[in-house]
Amino acid sequence: APPLRPFSIRLDRSSLELLPAGPVLTRRLSDLEGLFADEAAWRADVDNGDPIVYTVASSPVPETATELPQSITRIRPGDVAGELYFTKGHMHPVAEGEIYLGLEGEGGLLLFDGTDIEFLEITPDRIGYIPPGWAHRSVNVGSNDDYSFLAVYPGGAGHDYGWVLEHGFGARVYAGAAGAELRSYPQP
Ligand code: F6R
Ligand code: ZN
Repeated sequence: APPLRPFSIRLDRSSLELLPAGPVLTRRLSDLEGLFADEAAWRADVDNGDPIVYTVASSPVPETATELPQSITRIRPGDVAGELYFTKGHMHPVAEGEIYLGLEGEGGLLLFDGTDIEFLEITPDRIGYIPPGWAHRSVNVGSNDDYSFLAVYPGGAGHDYGWVLEHGFGARVYAGAAGAELRSYPQP
């Protein structure tokens, strides 16, 4: 496909929609198989209504090399046996950076390079920087509200979800009495 012509996109501040809109992806709990620590609790919640965990609404910019796509992820509040709702998480196989801009709610950005763990707090108007070579997962750490953010990333970077199944994230995020708790686990 030829490169796009210049155009502008409107971010509707009340609905947090991108206009014009592109494809929307919906991830239910059943799409997150093998990712939550408590497998039995995950299965019970899948059988009991299989709730939507997050949506990803893209702009019309395609994921092709040299273009710069954007999307808005909205994560619902919730947990599986205390483990807060999150995105699947991925590594970009072509090592390139990415930015997230917080739009609503309280989020956490869990980053893992296979050795080191970082956890960034993302609230409205805060930008999280994801350097090349760091797998990233977003967590809704708010107890009642959606967490939404805008992602901007290189269209040729690709998305490797298998990396996460193999390496994990080095830590999990739980609802604690005094807010979200990051619990790291031993590395294999
Ligand atoms: C793109 C990016 C985000 C995520 C989105 C959903 O590179 O990091 O747009 O794709 O937050 O998370 P995943 O893709 O891990 O299901
Ligand atoms: Zn990414």
